[in-house]
Amino acid sequence: MQIAIIVGSHRKDSQSAKVARFLADQLTSLGEHSCWICDLGKDPLPLWDEEIGSDAPQWSGLEALTEKIDAADAFIMIAPEWHGMVPAALKNFFLVCGGASFAHKPALPVGVSVGPGGTYPINELRTSSYKNNRLCYLPEHLIVRNCMVVMNEDASENDEGEHSYISERSLYCMKQLIAYADALAQVRASGAADLTPYPNGM
Ligand SMILES: Cc1cc2nc3c(=O)[nH]c(=O)nc-3n(C[C@H](O)[C@H](O)[C@H](O)COP(=O)(O)O)c2cc1C
Repeated sequence: MQIAIIVGSHRKDSQSAKVARFLADQLTSLGEHSCWICDLGKDPLPLWDEEIGSDAPQWSGLEALTEKIDAADAFIMIAPEWHGMVPAALKNFFLVCGGASFAHKPALPVGVSVGPGGTYPINELRTSSYKNNRLCYLPEHLIVRNCMVVMNEDASENDEGEHSYISERSLYCMKQLIAYADALAQVRASGAADLTPYPNGM
């Protein structure tokens, strides 16, 4: 199974990217899954403009990006909480990559906060990032609070109690994501989710 992990931070070396690497390791420990981490801090996308879809140089990489999204069976959308919001890079990602590539595929929303936050981006993703692309957010989500002291490669930087709780919780989410990816492949194959009559959501 191919899982795309989208890192929504603008920072080149973000905590959200660290969370992505940790979740990718958990997924690969569960079976023969391949993970692609799309880090919008390291590889920022141009802001959507009206030349999208043309040969304009700023959009030369779009076809390759779309192919990778098409190939994904499931997504993890990681949004750090920035001023109580989803960072603009992730909102722009949905504008740039919108369309059939996401349709009727499962996605786990993940919020990240240096403190006790991380809820607002979950709420925002669930409210406003699925209408036209028909991405299916799981009922389960993950909030990585106090992110500096969990999921670190160097175990000595972790708070044992918090790290152990969030690792178990994230493993639970990874198993669900895989199960939903299997289930939703049947929905896509059934033809009932054909986008031709209604390319956009209501
Ligand atoms: C512009 C900006 C705004 C932020 N606003 C919030 C916030 O509203 N709530 C919060 O819990 N953390 C906030 N943070 C801190 C992030 O939780 C922290 O940077 C954390 O490491 C996750 O972000 P990262 O993935 O970019 O590293 C903010 C950080 C930045 C750079």
